[in-house]
Amino acid sequence: MKENKFEFQYEVYDDIAELDKQDAWLLREARTATGQAYAPYSNFYVGAVAMLVNGSIVAGTNQENASYPVGICAERVLLGTVASLHPNVEIKSIAISYSSDNVKSDHPISPCGMCRQALLEYETRLKKPIRLILSGQEGKVFVIRSASLLLPFAFTSSELK
Ligand code: THU
Repeated sequence: MKENKFEFQYEVYDDIAELDKQDAWLLREARTATGQAYAPYSNFYVGAVAMLVNGSIVAGTNQENASYPVGICAERVLLGTVASLHPNVEIKSIAISYSSDNVKSDHPISPCGMCRQALLEYETRLKKPIRLILSGQEGKVFVIRSASLLLPFAFTSSELK
């Protein structure tokens, strides 16, 4: 028997002011984009904004529905939009933030399991890691160099061929 360990490193910044200019700008866009979310059921508003390698900026927000499972997370709204507007253009970074009527937005959140799977597929498809910049409306910022790090033991297309 052998025990394996999985671990990964990520960057922790105390505040947006510690980020470089481009990352700070993208995070501010994500914080602002939460205002476009449609979340009347959870009152939890998520904004995800991508910077593509060609400099294009695309935003996504969560879109809920009276039939709850129909709702879509900000990250998957974003990926579908990027793929449709800019097919085959790699994503460099995605900043994700949130606001809420019920809880304080003072720490980073990370994508749900389904969105991790979707982010991984996008990385694989365009053969480029997607950096994640995670933060609330204030407080610490986490920077993760590849979304795939959030999904160890992932099921991928390589199992199907
Ligand atoms: N949500 C996102 O949009 N992204 C996440 O990473 C976590 C959760 C949304 C789904 C739902 O509309 C609301 O936040 C509460 O779960």
